[in-house]
Amino acid sequence: MKILVFLSIVALSSAKSLLENEFHHFLAEQDILLQDPPQNIQAKQISTPTPRADDQFFTCPLKCICRVRVVQCSDAELKSVPAKIPKDTVMLDLQNNKITEIKEDDLKNLTSLYALYLVNNKITKIHPKAFRSMTHLKLLYLSWNLLPRIPINLPASLLELRIDENKIKKIQKGDFKGMKFLHVLEISGNVFDTTDIEPHAFDGVLRLIYLRMSYGKLSSIPKNLPSNLYELYLDHNRISSIQRKDFQRYKDLYRLDLSYNQIKEIENGSLVYLANLRQIHLENNAVKNVPASIKELKYLQTLYLHNNNISKIEIDDFCPKEMKIKKLHYYGISLFGNPVKHWEIQPASFRCVSGAHGVQLGNFKK
Ligand SMILES: *[C@@H]1O[C@H](CO)[C@@H](O)[C@H](O)[C@H]1NC(C)=O
Ligand SMILES: *[C@@H]1O[C@H](CO)[C@@H](O)[C@H](O)[C@H]1NC(C)=O
Ligand SMILES: *[C@@H]1O[C@H](CO)[C@@H](O)[C@H](O)[C@H]1NC(C)=O
Repeated sequence: MKILVFLSIVALSSAKSLLENEFHHFLAEQDILLQDPPQNIQAKQISTPTPRADDQFFTCPLKCICRVRVVQCSDAELKSVPAKIPKDTVMLDLQNNKITEIKEDDLKNLTSLYALYLVNNKITKIHPKAFRSMTHLKLLYLSWNLLPRIPINLPASLLELRIDENKIKKIQKGDFKGMKFLHVLEISGNVFDTTDIEPHAFDGVLRLIYLRMSYGKLSSIPKNLPSNLYELYLDHNRISSIQRKDFQRYKDLYRLDLSYNQIKEIENGSLVYLANLRQIHLENNAVKNVPASIKELKYLQTLYLHNNNISKIEIDDFCPKEMKIKKLHYYGISLFGNPVKHWEIQPASFRCVSGAHGVQLGNFKK
């Protein structure tokens, strides 16, 4: 069993394409083919005989390349999903075409699909039943299309959904229905504001650890995102302040990106909930002070504050008075591009920064 699995992975990875390598990597990482049980999945994976060359010739759609259950039809000027895609396909690449719509039966026969790439097409519509036969789909990439909403009835098996650079105006209750395995959601470059995210939109999404909502129209921090997020990217929006309760829910955050917003006010105490935070990006905002609760974040190691409006730095802004409170030292703090006068900062302000180049102040080095 294991050997066959190994061979099929070798076959997959021997193909040159970057996507295939990525896919192979993904399979290995997700342990989908490597684990022993469940038997039914294995049986399905392994017992399908490799199609003979002549079968392949007849079942591979025009303008596509088909090998070892991977079908590549990228950059082929396709206006619709081609018919006669082999039924046992696990990866289907339809990137960089001119597909405008996914119709009801376009993907009907593809019950074994694990990865579907539709990046950079002109899709405005996906039929509500288009994904109905996909019970194994893990990766769905819909970035750079023209979708006005998250497609209805996405497969509940998804681990990763990328739907950035579309025209999504709202995130609605039910959009992620049943997606309890979703780990990664990339939804940057759309047009919804914070108030367009319905309060229960993420109910039941239990394992999301990576969420990117960059390059959008968010005017404040969304408060109803899944609570176990590990990485949250809200950069390049138009958030102007951070309120005390904004991060109350996100206690597991490890990395937070709020750069390139219009943040002027960070309410005292609003960051204390982020007890596990390692890295925070606040650069390119209009922040006037080092946020009051920064020094209470025990694990914070990297703090980006450059290109803000900080004119004064107090001796205890970064480091707590009693050193035992802050366990980890900072690797780096960036402060250049602020109106603060370097020569007025007391060197002891950086007593909990490690290394000689841990602080970037423009010309001034610690
Ligand atoms: C799906 O399979 C059926 C039966 O083999 C076939 O008639 C039909 O054309 C297939 N659909 C597509 C979209 O390939
Ligand atoms: C922030 O709140 C803490 C605790 O409530 C308080 O000790 C501190 O003085 C406040 N800092 C500012 C700048 O208001
Ligand atoms: C920077 O702060 C000063 C007052 O401290 C204010 O007058 C100015 O408008 C601020 N600049 C920006 C870009 O917010």
